[in-house]
Amino acid sequence: MSHQTSPTPKHFLDLDQLDAATLRHILDLAKSMKRGQMPSGNAQPLAGKSIALVFEKPSTRTRVSFQVGMTQLGGNALVLSPQETQIGRGETIADTARVLSRYVNAIMLRTHAAQNLKDLAAFAGVPVINGLTDDSHPCQIMADIMTYEERKGPIEKAVITWCGDGNNVAVSWVHAAALFGFELRLACPESLRVKPAVIEAAKAKGARIIETADPGAAARGSDCLITDTWVSMGDEEGNRHNQLHGFQVNDALMALAKPDAVFMHCLPAHRGEEVTASVIDGAQSVVWDEAENRLHAQKGILVWCMS
Ligand code: CP
Ligand code: NVA
Repeated sequence: MSHQTSPTPKHFLDLDQLDAATLRHILDLAKSMKRGQMPSGNAQPLAGKSIALVFEKPSTRTRVSFQVGMTQLGGNALVLSPQETQIGRGETIADTARVLSRYVNAIMLRTHAAQNLKDLAAFAGVPVINGLTDDSHPCQIMADIMTYEERKGPIEKAVITWCGDGNNVAVSWVHAAALFGFELRLACPESLRVKPAVIEAAKAKGARIIETADPGAAARGSDCLITDTWVSMGDEEGNRHNQLHGFQVNDALMALAKPDAVFMHCLPAHRGEEVTASVIDGAQSVVWDEAENRLHAQKGILVWCMS
């Protein structure tokens, strides 16, 4: 039997390439499955299906949550790295996409250049999922929104504050701001801001985004404070610690947010750098629920992409 590829695969490449109704549908699927209610009552909606998980950078959460999620949905996941495949010997992304599409029903890629993800999607006959690039991390923000709403209700009413490096995770929050209607405050050093073009594109779609270099001003009255590592995978350390040391999320900053504000971090975290132990291990931190929700949110993405 020849392998059937879809004529128009449902890629999950970036939040800004999807519409709000689709993202809400995926979150609803995730919430239902977390409660044990499977789509159409089918306990194994992805039985007989496989996904290739290609990692060109390290991962704990993304790798394990996709692998376990696929198993829980009745399917199978293969973890591939460049060193163990012909990608590491120079086989092109395009050829890899064409070949993998004959074996598997979806491909997740974690890579450096966002162009690699675009190339994979252009040549794959099956859905491609962004498992993080230098430019964005959309799966993470789906889990984050799910976590926020579990704790505090509809996110459209929220003031969400990002404090630190204007990195890949921050970019996906900017994309989300244009789709989910919340107010996003970005407190980043001038030298490490999210690219102005990304902000302008989101604002043109109606996003409410405030940029500042003053973490205190951003945190005041917020419903949620978020930060991330000061040195992302692939970044040069340079003088990032000097640029970012005033952007640490600590007790004094949390005290400026609403009393019931939550703290989020995609992890891995560096206690004493971007966040103090007192905050990440404190009562307002929801980071373990956030990590768990990677599993549920991605099960929603997998079911949406593959059915
Ligand atoms: N948050 C996140 O993507 O973690 P990993 O790098 O461990 O996958
Ligand atoms: N910004 C971080 C996120 C890790 C999940 C990085 O890219 O390394």
